[in-house]
Amino acid sequence: MPLIEKIEQAVDILRRSAVVVVFSGAGMSAESGIPTFRDPGGIWDQFDPEELGTGSGLLHTLTRHPDRIRSFLEATIDIFLSAKPNPGHVALGVMERMGYVRTVITQNVDNLHQEAGNSRVLEMHGNLFRQRCLACGKKQVSEKTSYLLHIRRALERIGRLDLNAVLRELPQCRCGSPMRPDVVMFGEQVQDMPESFLEADSCSAMLVLGTSGVVYPAAALPQKAKQAGAKVIEINPGDSVYSGIADVQIPEKTGRVLPEILKRLQDA
Ligand code: OAD
Ligand code: ZN
Repeated sequence: MPLIEKIEQAVDILRRSAVVVVFSGAGMSAESGIPTFRDPGGIWDQFDPEELGTGSGLLHTLTRHPDRIRSFLEATIDIFLSAKPNPGHVALGVMERMGYVRTVITQNVDNLHQEAGNSRVLEMHGNLFRQRCLACGKKQVSEKTSYLLHIRRALERIGRLDLNAVLRELPQCRCGSPMRPDVVMFGEQVQDMPESFLEADSCSAMLVLGTSGVVYPAAALPQKAKQAGAKVIEINPGDSVYSGIADVQIPEKTGRVLPEILKRLQDA
């Protein structure tokens, strides 16, 4: 079926759905210049998830190969400093204002859905620009650019990275303890889980955008929505694990398809 017809099918479903929920992954931000995890050249292609994706791996790497942490941070800082919402994010922001999107559930930690104007965003894997106190659990949000520039300056200042240097540079909580980035690493509990499953259970359509669907429990949300009777629309130019449940599959980039969907919703 031609792409245009699939887009029209998706628009038709969205028009007839009382509650639309979005579920997004790294592909959503690919067109903002942030590499995905598992595509060729992706983050887990360049860096070892065993070394950088878990708390114990990070500590181990910090001791044995601090240079690897440094290059990961240096590469990441520049990417996030220049990442802006892409036309896909922007379209979702407008769709919320038009009443077409109730909630965005995302696995992304980049804050781009909020920057594009979505007001109800559940971040199952946390947010890179929020910190959580290691002792009392209190959370605080940092301004993105100054936070990234602070880390960059600290990296320039510090000679060899070690645990003490890292602890010294982490923001301090009022209780006196260091605050870590509030992102979910492998083996840690995901965030906003009951709310996310409730959203999946109560929506009439779910837009599944740019996720490989392999990291659980988040990856189970589309099945949950489908079981509860929702229509599932997937936009992803790559292979998909959701082909068995998607009512419409659009094999194209979200930054290209979502503005097309929005245009048609606005013309209605
Ligand atoms: P992946 O890297 O696993 O998957 C990215 C998906 O985006 C693939 O299916 C691509 O085909 C698709 N894609 C690439 N470019 C796209 C574009 N322009 N438009 C639409 N789709 C595109 O990323 P996630 O599924 O988000 O977890 O990975 C899930 C989790 O694994 C992440 O949240 C992270 C990672 O380890 C944690 O950090 C805990
Ligand atoms: Zn504290």
